[in-house]
Amino acid sequence: MIFERKENLIGLDIGSRTIKLAEVLQTKKDRILQKFGMADLPRDAIVEGRIKEPAVVSDTIKGLINDLKVKAHNVATSVAGYSVIIKRITVGKVTEEELHDNIQFEAEQYIPFDVQDVNIDFHIIGEHESNPNQMHVMLVAAKKEIIDEYSDVLEMANLNPCVIDVDAFALEKVFEDNYLNEEGNIALIDIGANKMNINIVKDYMSAFTRDVSIGGEQIVRDIASRFECSFEEAEAVMLGKTKDKVPQEEGETKGKAPNKEEVQEIVRSFTLSWCKELRQAIDFYYSTYADEDIKKIILSGGGAMAEGLSGLLSAETSLDVEMCNPFINIKINEKQNDINYLKKIAPQAVICIGLASRSMFEK
Ligand SMILES: Nc1ncnc2c1ncn2[C@@H]1O[C@H](COP(=O)(O)OP(=O)(O)OP(=O)(O)O)[C@@H](O)[C@H]1O
Ligand SMILES: [Mg+2]
Repeated sequence: MIFERKENLIGLDIGSRTIKLAEVLQTKKDRILQKFGMADLPRDAIVEGRIKEPAVVSDTIKGLINDLKVKAHNVATSVAGYSVIIKRITVGKVTEEELHDNIQFEAEQYIPFDVQDVNIDFHIIGEHESNPNQMHVMLVAAKKEIIDEYSDVLEMANLNPCVIDVDAFALEKVFEDNYLNEEGNIALIDIGANKMNINIVKDYMSAFTRDVSIGGEQIVRDIASRFECSFEEAEAVMLGKTKDKVPQEEGETKGKAPNKEEVQEIVRSFTLSWCKELRQAIDFYYSTYADEDIKKIILSGGGAMAEGLSGLLSAETSLDVEMCNPFINIKINEKQNDINYLKKIAPQAVICIGLASRSMFEK
């Protein structure tokens, strides 16, 4: 994934509900956020990480590019879901070049797809703790068809796909860039509309990743079905954008009016189930690394902004929980950006900022 950077890089996080775009200029000393914007996608345009409606997705990207008057073309984006496998594996100690030549063979036993059908990347983590002849490696395999799918959609939007990353590593990049002197085990968790991405890092190195199919859309779907309203209406109710009543104009679904307490109870019951899922992942981590202590949880993604989640998660896991701020160590072009807006949506922008912060010399 090496490319020559001739212009600013665009980070494009193509989420199943919201596409986020960030344009970042990297100078020798600084990273400067030039532009940031988001646009919603219709439901079902992306399902389980697969692009079902390429024209809709590329038109939405084009709309964002036009609205933000973006001139750059080079894009870093990411893929996730069932077509992407991230696995920490142990192999005999070899050089990076040797592993490069052997990786297909090594990967075969860990990948549930034909190795011919996947693009493989890897990162050497370090020597095995108790066997100096072995080393730990983070293996990433993505089906070629999903890489093609995302590349095609970018090309349809007249963009140049330069880096295809995975969500978990974009999350890690933001942590590295912004959270200095945070050695030890930290759980980075992104909760989007349809998936939760867990990446537990130890000393800035990924030690465990897991994707779970949960997110904000579960709440929206439940509100829509209980109160017989459209998804759009249900989402507005969840986000507190309507008063206590679902709008009932001509052509809209006629439903029961939800009150605030009922909606809060639905949000609470789903967020509680997310906390239990996270607790299981953390327990699994402890069962694998018995001597490790997780210091804290850093939350990102739109779903993570659900009311009361931080408190519930902290109670469930007995860990400190904080919301991720991807703007700690990046300069912001204040002429082009509304700082208050960026503060408000900061957790939702995390993966996108991680993608836009990739450097041309990185692997
Ligand atoms: N303030 C908020 N409170 C609760 N939920 C929110 C808030 N803001 C956004 N959401 C929810 O967050 C979700 C969108 O978050 P995000 O943009 O991270 O998802 P995505 O990247 O599109 O989805 P995914 O990564 O799962 O494909 C939606 O379900 C939305 O309803
Ligand atoms: Mg997302």
